[in-house]
Amino acid sequence: MARILITSALPYINGIKHLGNLVGSMLPADVYARFQRQRGNDVLYICATDEHGTPAELAARDARQTVQQYCAEQYEIQAGAGEAFGLSFDHFGRSSNPPNHRLTQHFAAVLEDRGLIEERVDKQIYSIDDQRFLPDRYVEGICPHCEYEKARGDQCDNCGRLIDPIELKEPYSKISGSRNVEVRETRHLYLLQAQMQDRIARWVESKTEWPQLTKSIAKKWLKEGLRDRSITRDLVWGIPVAKDGAKRPGFENKVFYVWFDAPIEYIGATEEWALANNENWERWWRTDKGAADVKYVQVMGKDNVAFHTVSFPATILGSEEPWKTVDALKSLNWLTWYGGKFSTSENRGIFMDQALEILPPDYWRWHLMANAPESDDASFTLEHFASVVNKDLADVLGNFVNRITRFCNARFGDAVPEAGDYGEAEQNLITELDKRMADYAGYLEEMEFRKAFAELRAIWVAGNEYLQIAAPWTSIKTDEARAAASVRCALNLIVLFAALSRPVIPFTADKMFAIFGLDPVEASRWPTRAASALSRFKGGEAFTLPKVLFAKIEDEQVDEWRKRFGAE
Ligand code: 2FM
Ligand code: ZN
Repeated sequence: MARILITSALPYINGIKHLGNLVGSMLPADVYARFQRQRGNDVLYICATDEHGTPAELAARDARQTVQQYCAEQYEIQAGAGEAFGLSFDHFGRSSNPPNHRLTQHFAAVLEDRGLIEERVDKQIYSIDDQRFLPDRYVEGICPHCEYEKARGDQCDNCGRLIDPIELKEPYSKISGSRNVEVRETRHLYLLQAQMQDRIARWVESKTEWPQLTKSIAKKWLKEGLRDRSITRDLVWGIPVAKDGAKRPGFENKVFYVWFDAPIEYIGATEEWALANNENWERWWRTDKGAADVKYVQVMGKDNVAFHTVSFPATILGSEEPWKTVDALKSLNWLTWYGGKFSTSENRGIFMDQALEILPPDYWRWHLMANAPESDDASFTLEHFASVVNKDLADVLGNFVNRITRFCNARFGDAVPEAGDYGEAEQNLITELDKRMADYAGYLEEMEFRKAFAELRAIWVAGNEYLQIAAPWTSIKTDEARAAASVRCALNLIVLFAALSRPVIPFTADKMFAIFGLDPVEASRWPTRAASALSRFKGGEAFTLPKVLFAKIEDEQVDEWRKRFGAE
């Protein structure tokens, strides 16, 4: 039994996530976690809300709440949406929880001991009217690169360039709108990443199994040369710059930068899980305490790759402590909304809560994973979604289950028929399934999701083709035993399909097991041999007729959703 630690990029606390966020990290990680659990491996899937930084403070202001209230409320909303989507986190934590405070302060202290953190005097925008410094998104102005008028202090949304706030032309406070601002000097802690260049380059080189997208992003950053970066900010909400409970002199009104503490929350959330479950978190994270044999898998969108292949490793490796580092890193491209951006403010795109208002989770899970933005960005359109659901789920899988259970019920009653033996048609099916099941499992193992689900779809199609060839509705007229054997084979296929499909459509898989009153955990143990899967039912096992598994999506629904979600 392998031990597999899985983390998906931590969603920002500000607002419920859209389908692009979902397929960019949490959903693929969930599918992989479910697959590995079904294989009998010891899996720990950890996620959390990423709660610090200016976006959280600004969103709380807009909502007229304290940042604590805002985060507590949004955490519940995101945790609820994740559960409703079937995201099988072993723990969904919060980066504002005590373990992350302790660990972040620990890493900062150790890195300073190693000579990798130093205080530097920095120039920052200070708002005289607000009586405070304006880090990152608290200041806006004209982009020095493209003249865009509403560039944020950390990045320009128009040209995408990263910005140092003091470069902005005509800066103003995002808090009060005041232009009464000036550049002042203040002290910040810097992580001396430049010193880590060779160490990180060697570490990246050693990751021979990283996929192309991941590796090329890491190498691009290394080629540009690692820069020392400020890891503190002038904010109230965040992890205090303190050691052993005492605030660092001169840093009383400062906290750690969100991108310093957020990845440490992978460890923090594991500690939260351990505290809640009387478990030991160190055996997942400390190679000196049992984590040496853990396989650590991270899943994230491509914009997060640099932080996970360079910045977070600088923290971890720089500590020179025996922490577990990432083994496999799956990165995804963007899912676009009709070729453009999902946007809450402009009401474009579908968000997790809205998705579930109109259809159950498996419809979305299947479409998103079967068309995941892997080799390139992928465009979500409602028309494509409807066509995929109607073809794959309703016509192929749903129809198979519906047709054979109804036929059996009408001709043989409500138990699996016993008569007849498997013959050539079943043998051919088994040969095809064995090959496809091996390929499917191989792709899942590699986290090649589009290929995996093309294979799963082909497995469902093979079942339908088998039924066409075996045609029990014809053979029953002349050879009832032959028809009984075909029906038995097809009913066994339902259970096999359910087990194979469960990583991606868990709710439907469990409905399929329920047809036969099977315990989902036992029945979903990963099948590797088609012959044994198809001999589970020997005959006589009772079943109940299922409701239709998937309703077809009608053109009128697509039209209505197009209007509601701003599809153009
Ligand atoms: O880009 C994002 O959505 C970040 N909240 C991801 C953080 S991942 C981790 F490092 F915490
Ligand atoms: Zn710009």
